[in-house]
Amino acid sequence: MSDYGYTFSINGEFVDESDAKISVLDHGFLFGDSIYEVVRTVDGRLFAADRHLKRLHNSANALGMPLQRDDEWLLQHWRDMHAKRGGGESYLRIIITRGVGPLSLDFSDCETQNVVGIAKPLNRWPDEDYAHGCKIVLAKLRRNPKQSTDPAIKSGNYLNNVMALKEARAQGATEAVMLNVEGNVTEATTSNIFMIKDGIVKTPALKEGLLEGVTRGFILEVCRDVGLKCEEAVLSGADLLNADEVFITGTTRDVMPVGQINEEKLSRAPGSLTIKIANAYHEVLHDPKNSQ
Ligand SMILES: Cc1ncc(COP(=O)(O)O)c(C=O)c1O
Repeated sequence: MSDYGYTFSINGEFVDESDAKISVLDHGFLFGDSIYEVVRTVDGRLFAADRHLKRLHNSANALGMPLQRDDEWLLQHWRDMHAKRGGGESYLRIIITRGVGPLSLDFSDCETQNVVGIAKPLNRWPDEDYAHGCKIVLAKLRRNPKQSTDPAIKSGNYLNNVMALKEARAQGATEAVMLNVEGNVTEATTSNIFMIKDGIVKTPALKEGLLEGVTRGFILEVCRDVGLKCEEAVLSGADLLNADEVFITGTTRDVMPVGQINEEKLSRAPGSLTIKIANAYHEVLHDPKNSQ
């Protein structure tokens, strides 16, 4: 355990933070050449781990690093990480690196992937953000385009997001929404974004260049289930500012209403449809068919 109260593992073995080390020649450290997934628990069980595993494989294959551990091993390790923490709901991150190799961008000599586990209590975002809506900003920094390292890959290379979040924090906001180079909305630094206008729910289409959030996927299903029209669309910053309701989604945030974009306050936060969607998602979270 560290000062932060985290739990660590290296290649499946639980270690103290002082022993939670990989080589400085690991390409994950040198080049951000790694992938990761965060699974949370709900009622003490892994939530939607099947969907996270699927995305982990997609990320791995997109980077030409097929996983060296099988799904059963990964699932069991997520469960072991939760058990090791011993109580409460967990945030369970598994990072898989390219492995150790010569000091070169060429990874052909990186033979063995390293698997790093970091677990911590599932943090609660401020109640205030759910009660009255959070503040987000439209970042000046653009999302790296799909034609570069595709944001659909959940890689350890998050510097673009790190710099966008810096803009948010400088303005007292919880999240920064990034536009793509065409000026269309993509996503926030660790969440996807939705808006509602005239009763229609909209979220940026995947082709705009964004991570296909597991929560985003559930929200699209939930909207259909509760009879709301939901579209994957091309959205501008002005569309967000003119929306009736806006919310962001993510594994740790669930459905978080947005109350302010830059200096513009939204009149409905949370709006009635956001509340309806958040309540329906709450049922999804506790539905045993989504736990592993
Ligand atoms: C860039 C980015 N977009 C969206 C999300 C939300 O994805 P999920 O719902 O799978 O947590 C995340 C999660 O960390 C993210 O990093």
